Amino acid sequence: MTIERHLTDADLARDLRADVSHGLRAQPKTLPPKWFYDARGAALFEDITRTEEYYPTRAERAILSDQAPAIAAASGADTLLELGAGSAEKTRLLLDALGEAGTLRRYIPVDVSGEALTETVARTGREYPGVEIHGVIADFEQHLRLLPNGGRRLIAFLGSTIGNLRPPDRIAFLRTVRKDMTDGDALLLGTDLVKDRARLLAAYDDAGGVTAEFNRNVLHVINREIGSNFAPERFQHVVMWDDANEWVEMRLRSSQDQRIRLASLDLTVEFAEGEDLHTEISAKFRREGVESDLCDAGLTLRRWWTDPSGDFALSLAVAD
Ligand code: SAH
Ligand code: AVI
Repeated sequence: MTIERHLTDADLARDLRADVSHGLRAQPKTLPPKWFYDARGAALFEDITRTEEYYPTRAERAILSDQAPAIAAASGADTLLELGAGSAEKTRLLLDALGEAGTLRRYIPVDVSGEALTETVARTGREYPGVEIHGVIADFEQHLRLLPNGGRRLIAFLGSTIGNLRPPDRIAFLRTVRKDMTDGDALLLGTDLVKDRARLLAAYDDAGGVTAEFNRNVLHVINREIGSNFAPERFQHVVMWDDANEWVEMRLRSSQDQRIRLASLDLTVEFAEGEDLHTEISAKFRREGVESDLCDAGLTLRRWWTDPSGDFALSLAVAD
């Protein structure tokens, strides 16, 4: 078991400061979603996946339960490299199938969240003693080129995390994945699908308020890391469906006029009552869109699987 770091604590602190400094000066004010996931945020995400309303995790697990052997056979991979692995709870289904196919040698979980990654490495190390576990703390938008290659890799990007990237960033990400792929590698991509608006909104606004707490967690992270004085309870969790872009948006809406002091950035930011801080988009997909994004990146869709209700899709793609 090893953990490789492409992001030290100092790198993370520098990147957060740059994102906060830039994002809170922008119009509208915006923060990238990767800062949700400190230890508390990662735990809140796991809680979200267990809410009644948040169907994507269950739907993706259902596909993996049915199709993991087919995925293992189609990929023939000896290495499973997983981007944004988090707790890698569903990944067991892939590891088991690749193990049963007799090809699995290495598992490489990659995540920006050191806490989540360390736990995942320790757990998979215990559960898969014959497999080399090589965790990497890295940003999948910055460090793809530095990730281990060699062997025949199945690159998994599950959970519809690709939907948290804005379209230009999504295409740039897929192109970089493609450039990094060598003969025999395949990409397994999880995408949540467009569906009834009420179900989509409920999935991001559960009745128990777990997603609201997850959304506000980014303010706790900034307070701790930057020494700011956000009062998270003065921001309301807001969720909306953007029909033109086909994405769910999460925002934090200031419930009053307020002034935030970000001591270590020497920055003061004003929020007007009702002003939104944009914290996440979560794009929803259709098969044509996934196929065309893959094609733009030089990838060919080989297989497309959905759960029985058609809520979520897994795509297997290879380089053209
Ligand atoms: N794959 C898991 C977890 C999804 S949550 C699942 O399907 O349930 C999204 C994960 O991506 C989190 O663990 C988060 O820390 C990670 N993540 C978000 N942005 C990232 C980035 N830019 N680079 C690396 N990991 C990132
Ligand atoms: C990780 N990502 C795909 C989740 C999503 O559905 O966009 C994060 C999340 N945000 C709110 N709930 C879950």
